[in-house]
Amino acid sequence: MHRLGQKFTLLSSCDVAPAMRAFCEMNHAPKTVFHDCCTDEWVKGVPAADLLVAGFPCQPFSVAGVHGGELDPRGTVIWWLLKWIRRAQPACVLLENVPGLVSCHPETLLNILEALQSIRLPGAGRSRYSVRWKILNSADFGLPQNRRRLYIVAARPDVVRWPFRWPEGGREVSLTSVLEAAPRTTTRQQIAAARPRAQRAARLVENVVRLLTAAGVDPVRACAVIDAGGTKGCWNLDRLPCLTASRGSTGGFWLTNRGRFTTSLELMRCQGFKPCEMDTSMLSARQLGRALGNAMSVDVVAALLKRLLQSTNFWRP
Ligand SMILES: C[S@@+](CC[C@H](N)C(=O)[O-])C[C@H]1O[C@@H](n2cnc3c(N)ncnc32)[C@H](O)[C@@H]1O
Repeated sequence: MHRLGQKFTLLSSCDVAPAMRAFCEMNHAPKTVFHDCCTDEWVKGVPAADLLVAGFPCQPFSVAGVHGGELDPRGTVIWWLLKWIRRAQPACVLLENVPGLVSCHPETLLNILEALQSIRLPGAGRSRYSVRWKILNSADFGLPQNRRRLYIVAARPDVVRWPFRWPEGGREVSLTSVLEAAPRTTTRQQIAAARPRAQRAARLVENVVRLLTAAGVDPVRACAVIDAGGTKGCWNLDRLPCLTASRGSTGGFWLTNRGRFTTSLELMRCQGFKPCEMDTSMLSARQLGRALGNAMSVDVVAALLKRLLQSTNFWRP
């Protein structure tokens, strides 16, 4: 909202993770803070607001997860969010989750959409939320990260001026452009010879470097990003794979044109955060990496909120 130049008051925030609450209180000073949204205290305690933004836990719906779906207790968060939406009837809603909700749990997505659409709003005529969903990739919004996420937007008809249009994206940047400069003292040879300390990770990096070299690609010039903390040695060129909470908290990705793992600063940039605008001193590097892997990409949220608010009478040019 700051980036969009829109005035706002953060009425409330909620997260079970104490570190996340501390971060939010320090950086955004919400009027009230809750620690569990799956409670009546939260549903009744959060005041009516014009906008709800929520990235609900994705593990139950993640393609990489155990596919527990609604049976997983973490999957219940969305139903408590819907309880609050039904009670407080915010003018606009933005929800975020993994694409696995579409591909592996379409019945849950349908239930969520139907629950939103079935909320009876006061007033005559079309008194239902208009609800849309789409999968967007952060890589199309000026961030060097392949991060496909499902976004659900809803607006109350009494505030809608124009039909909502999805932001187009189409703005790609290279990962190298957001990397910290290599120290002047590091030579090409040192970068080429550098390997992760852990044996398995070193082997994965070695294999990718061999592959690149065999294909005529210079791994010191090209920025190959290797998931050296994983088991398969997945890699791609000049773009981060999707940063997950677990990868963020365990050192990030290996960069062949730097001969090292990504830094916290680089991971922040890949999620659209401007380090100079935030205080992260209360978080350990592990907590910060985890938070970044959990976060919504700032540039995507900004593009979505711009379109959502512009379609309503809340937008102030
Ligand atoms: C996908 S992350 C989204 C994080 C944050 N909304 C963002 O976009 O940066 C899901 C978050 O839900 C929090 N969470 C899980 N269960 C919760 C609950 N019952 N009440 C509040 N927060 C919860 C987790 O700690 C985690 O930070």
